[in-house]
Amino acid sequence: MGRIILTGDRPTGKLHLGHYVGSLRNRVLLQNEGNYDRMFVFIADVQALTDNADNPEKVRQNIIEVALDYLSCGLDPEKVTLFIQSQIPELHEMTQFFSNLVTVQRLQRNPTVKAEMALRGFEGGATDDNKRGLPVGFFTYPISQAADICFCKATTVPVGEDQEPMIEQCREIVRSFNGTYKCDVLVEPEILLPTNLACRRLPGTDGKAKMSKSLGNCIYLSDDRKTMEQKVKGMFTDPGHLRVEDPGKVEGNPVFTYLDAFVEEGDFAKYWSEYQNLQEVKDHYTRGGLGDMKCKKFLINVLNDRLDPIRERRHALEQDIPAVYEILRKGSDAARQVAAQTLHEMKDAMKINYFDDAALIAQQAEKYRQ
Ligand code: TRP
Repeated sequence: MGRIILTGDRPTGKLHLGHYVGSLRNRVLLQNEGNYDRMFVFIADVQALTDNADNPEKVRQNIIEVALDYLSCGLDPEKVTLFIQSQIPELHEMTQFFSNLVTVQRLQRNPTVKAEMALRGFEGGATDDNKRGLPVGFFTYPISQAADICFCKATTVPVGEDQEPMIEQCREIVRSFNGTYKCDVLVEPEILLPTNLACRRLPGTDGKAKMSKSLGNCIYLSDDRKTMEQKVKGMFTDPGHLRVEDPGKVEGNPVFTYLDAFVEEGDFAKYWSEYQNLQEVKDHYTRGGLGDMKCKKFLINVLNDRLDPIRERRHALEQDIPAVYEILRKGSDAARQVAAQTLHEMKDAMKINYFDDAALIAQQAEKYRQ
């Protein structure tokens, strides 16, 4: 069986460094390895609307942001099918059929849904004015996410750690569908996590567990040099590291987590030749005698080295936005064909392709013939 990669992002904002090290960078590597049969990357606008129903304009504006982020990171529409979720109506049919195989209780146990509900103040059955009710579409989005993954029979889903419960739930849905309808139409996907732990969940510039737009602690791929540099200079470090001579802590210090996630061989020779590798820097910081600002300056150089080519490509793409929409339109057409085929196979397995089912029609005719 072939190897098919699928992944995507909600268009609720520009993509940031957490997206980059958690998934984007890896997608470009996967694309260039060519070690797969097909690769799909999509913009999950339907999912974004599950908690932005009143603000479709935000979603609409961010579709192009995400597309520019994808292309400027190096995703190549010749190698990857780039598409927009809402343009594939077959996904909704699949979601409906899947939803009959999932219990409310199972959804309630999904840890990512639980955490996101708490974050958004969604409470099931809330009546207080200050609590927001839980939209059904939001509650059930893991089911729709299973359709996103299954339409192309993805074998491999490169995502961040927070998506693990979604992939697990998708695997259950696949087993349930194939078991219930005694078929092997759908494929159980595997999650592909970054191997570098610092990349699985990049902290925010404030040191909080996650880089997230709502926490205002992001560095965006589209930030210019000056904005990025200011954000790094203002980054949280070890609050106990008051004077340069003081011993410092590396764990929980986001400057070092970012260095863990971004430093490549060659960066020391290029930007900080006093050290051979990151371990030497960490040892010096832990011992005392290494200032935060020196570490931050190195981080700025490393980040600019990674981000400058992305910024350049973005600038070029911005000069022809209609061409970017055209890429998405072509990709959506191609994805739709794949989805229609899988949906047809699903309906065959469920035996609800009535008009294609000559045996059914003959049998019914026989039953009613006088
Ligand atoms: N839930 C993902 C996120 O919030 C986005 C997403 C939607 C996705 N459908 C998907 C990711 C399918 C991978 C596969 O980032």
